[in-house]
Amino acid sequence: MTDRIETERLILRLMRRDDAEALLPLFGDPVFIASFEATPFDLDEMEAWVERNLVHQAANGVGLYTVVLRSAGLVIGDCGLEWIDIDGEPVAELGYDIRRDHWGHGYATEAASAIRDHALHVLGLPRLVSLIQVGNAASMRVAEKIGMTNAGALNRYGNRYFRYELRRPDPAAGG
Ligand SMILES: CC(C)(COP(=O)(O)OP(=O)(O)OC[C@H]1O[C@@H](n2cnc3c(N)ncnc32)[C@H](O)[C@@H]1OP(=O)(O)O)[C@@H](O)C(=O)NCCC(=O)NCCS
Repeated sequence: MTDRIETERLILRLMRRDDAEALLPLFGDPVFIASFEATPFDLDEMEAWVERNLVHQAANGVGLYTVVLRSAGLVIGDCGLEWIDIDGEPVAELGYDIRRDHWGHGYATEAASAIRDHALHVLGLPRLVSLIQVGNAASMRVAEKIGMTNAGALNRYGNRYFRYELRRPDPAAGG
């Protein structure tokens, strides 16, 4: 797995076990976590979440990066890929989270664009999806801004999601 992806304002670096504390301002925030219809994490839950990502990464060679704001040297989010299964088919899901005091500056869009480009052009994946809970307008907007389109709704984990999708342009088709 590429250990570092840089953008104009952000560094996406491999997640580390000790990032749990820096990610707690995201997942411990009741407003942030409401997007997942969950309750705020404590440090133990945050550590377990990070551990799941590290296990996924070790097994699959892709995972969520820790997003660092260059100007402040501050962890402001996570963004990356996870393999999930939809209708028996493995697909790479692009995910992104930003801490609330940094929302609205285009950081999710900047991080997700970098992961999109890496996935399509470095990893050579033909297709990306994002499962976004119906009602998460900010996340849908990010998906649209990076070129994904709404491919319909599905039920999963007891929730209703929109499946946003992006396919690698076919050079033969001039795209
Ligand atoms: C979704 C999330 C990652 C967006 O992060 P961000 O850095 O603020 O995103 P950006 O600034 O790149 O873009 C947000 C866009 O959503 C728009 N937006 C924000 N709130 C909105 C709302 N309630 N309704 C419609 N659009 C909204 C913003 O105006 C912006 O679009 P614009 O550039 O056209 O104005 C952040 O809100 C978050 O972490 N939420 C909680 C976790 C989450 O939902 N993760 C995604 C799971 S699928």
